[in-house]
Parts: sequence; structure tokens; C-alpha cells
Amino acid sequence: MKQDMILILDLGSEENPKIAREIRAMGVYTEIHPHDITADELKALPGVKGIILNGGPNRVVDGVEIDAGEAVYNFGVPVWCADHKGEAGFPADDAEREAALRAFVFDRCGAEANWNMENFIADQIELVRRQVGDRKVLLALSGGVDSSVVAALLIKAIGKQLTCVHVNHGLLRKGEPEEVVRVFRDEMDANLIYVDAVDRFLDKLAGVAEPESKRKIIGAEFIRVFEEEARKLEGIDFLAQGTIYPDIIESGTKTVKAVKSHHNVGGLPEDLQFDLVEPLKMLFKDEVRACGKALGLPDGMVYRQPFPGPGLGVRCLGAITRDRLEAVRESDAILREEFRKNGLEGKVWQYFTAIPDLKSVGVRDNKRADEWCVIIRAVNTIDAMTAEIEEVPYSLLKHITNRITAEVKGVNRVLFDLTPKPTGTIEWE
Ligand code: XMP
Repeated sequence: MKQDMILILDLGSEENPKIAREIRAMGVYTEIHPHDITADELKALPGVKGIILNGGPNRVVDGVEIDAGEAVYNFGVPVWCADHKGEAGFPADDAEREAALRAFVFDRCGAEANWNMENFIADQIELVRRQVGDRKVLLALSGGVDSSVVAALLIKAIGKQLTCVHVNHGLLRKGEPEEVVRVFRDEMDANLIYVDAVDRFLDKLAGVAEPESKRKIIGAEFIRVFEEEARKLEGIDFLAQGTIYPDIIESGTKTVKAVKSHHNVGGLPEDLQFDLVEPLKMLFKDEVRACGKALGLPDGMVYRQPFPGPGLGVRCLGAITRDRLEAVRESDAILREEFRKNGLEGKVWQYFTAIPDLKSVGVRDNKRADEWCVIIRAVNTIDAMTAEIEEVPYSLLKHITNRITAEVKGVNRVLFDLTPKPTGTIEWE
């Protein structure tokens, strides 16, 4: 293994992910593990140079104060007990805190700052090869950042032992299914099964207007299609997943109750359970992007804005119709092109169009024309819990409006959504 590690054991402090990030920012790899890690589990972790025990408000579980076992204290590397046994806790202001962390990591533990993407990728390739051997792995490749980075990493590690399944459910943005095929099949020479399930999804969704019902149908149908493809393949032992560190942290630890359950595995039937390959499970989102970049994925894939799982399905408001779905796809493509050309891509957190089930009177070719309207939404946020609108210049909005009404069939009006979250959510459904 190419990198040193500082291990953080979870004694109930909510700041553990923050400490993990701060040490990684110094170039030293970190992992957070449960406080009751065993001697064998410790030995299996590569490169451990030091251990931080950081207690917190959740340290008392069922009336008992938890502590790490003897295995930890006897492991033979420096242990920083940040809130007990007389040692200092973490200083709260920034410079002092960084100095304290640096003193522990570099002076006491002698760790080297050798955490970088090249070493991470090399280590993961070795670990995946060890785990998988000569067996086969299946991956649902949506084209989103996480699944794309997993695919690129596994192609490097095990080549054609990986089979990627890309399900086109008809609710992706313009050009996305084609890009997945181009990047992974044509450029990376992956085993890629492309499933055209557009009609199947749209038929199932026909007439369904309620947003949560739409989401359920899209989710359930996706699992069904994926399962069918998996059953056609022989001898698959592993399922690869784009699980990332926040997924793991949010699914709860022994001391912190789950914020939300971690359901990426979701829904495959009992007789189709695989062992998991999750090479990104220790990375934060920006690190996943850096990993994708280092693996040679295109910027458009690595730095793309968040896109909801149900895709354009929740932006074609109410019951989805093919004409409105095409209109939202085309108008979204124009918006994205113009934001890119005008330096807003990468600056605005999320931007898209939505199309309500609403026609209004307009004039086209000197005749009355009842056509759809399209809504532009552009927001900035830190955590998607609250959001502010981006103040897009009027001149650009007018230009985008002119293009959409001229180029998108059946659309005669464009509206700009000025609503922050709350009261509006980011999506309209
Ligand atoms: P809202 O609309 O709740 O969105 O303010 C917050 C963030 O979540 C995304 N979003 C979803 N992502 N499945 C997803 O994977 C969904 O059903 C879904 N709904 C909303 C939304 O795009 C925004 O980034």
C-alpha cells in the first residue's frame, strides 16, 4: 500500500467527518471506524500511523460511556484521546486546531503526506483485484459522477471482468445516453450493455400525475430492468456500487442514528444478492471528482451539476407526455449551452428547465398559437436544504428565451423562477 493512514475511531463526536477531511487536506489519508474495532480488524487496515479517539455528546450509549478496547491502546501507534484521560480536546479556532492536528499527525505519528489520487487509485486497483480475483462484476452505470468514476476505476482494475449496464429510461438529459456509450464503450473499451427502455418507462408512467407515484414507478421499473439484464448474464459474483463516504456517514454509526438509510443496494430480490465492490466508499464528493479527473473522464461528466435520480421525469410536471418531455429536454440543453458559453457553468450550483402542464395563448407566424411554457430555475446552495436564486443577467435570460421559443417545438413562453428555498423546493415536484 502506498499511503499512510490516521484512523479516527467513532466515540460519538459529530465532528469526526470534519477532522477526517482536515487531515486529508494535509495530504494524509484518514478513515473513520467504530470504537470497538478488533485487533484483527486493525491489523487488516493498511498503513495505520496513529489513532484519534474523539468523544462527543453521543458517547453515552444506553447509559454506558463507551471506550475503545485494549486492542486500540496496545496497537503500537500513538493514540490521541481527544476528550478524556487528561489529554486536550480539539481547539475550536482554525490556526490552533490545524497546528494541533499537524503536531499529532506528522510529529507524533510520523505520517507522510502521501495521500493523493494516484496513490489512492493504485491502492484501490490492488484491493479490487484481490477481492474479485478472476470473477465477474456488474455495475449499473447511470452516467452520473459516482457510477462513472466507479466504472472508470474498475475498467482499469479488471477490464472485461466488469459488465456495465446502462438503462436509458428516456428521462436523461440531451446527449447523456450517447455520451455514456461513447466514453465507456468506444473510448474505454468497456463491456457495456445499453438497454433502450424508453417506451417501457413512458408506458408505465402514462397518465400518472402525482410526483411521488412517478418517483416510485421510475425507481421500481429501474430495478426490474436491471434485474432482467443481470439474470441474462452468467456467473456474476459481485455488484459494484458508487457508494461514497457521505452515504456511509448518513446511514448512521453505532453512536449516531441514521439520517437516512443507505439504500443504494435497494430492491434486488433475495436470489440475486451479490457481494459488493465499493471502491469509492471512503471518498468525499470532491475527492470522487478528483478521482474521475485522474482517471481521464471528461470534465462534463466529472463536474456535472446534481441531477435527480428520476431525471426529467420530475421536471415534466404532472402526467408525462412525450411532446412536453422533448420540450423540457431541448430547452434544458439550450439553457446548459448558454450557461456554459457565458461562464455560469461551475458557478451556479444547479440550473434546469421545467415544463408545467399549461398552455397559453401566443402568436406564431401571425396566427394564434396555444403552446406550452417553460420555467427556468437557477439556484445556489451549500447543502440543498436551503437555496438562493442566481441573479442571471436579464440580457442572457432574454437571449435564452429567444432561443427556446424559436428552437423548441410547441413552446411560446419562458418564465424565470425567482423563488428561494424555502418556500420553493429546488425541483418543482
Ligand atoms: P429539492 O427539490 O428537494 O431538491 O429542494 C434538493 C436536491 O435533491 C435533488 N432531488 C432529487 N435527487 N432523487 C434524487 O436523486 C429525487 O427524487 C430527487 N428530488 C430532488 C434536487 O435535484 C436537488 O439537487
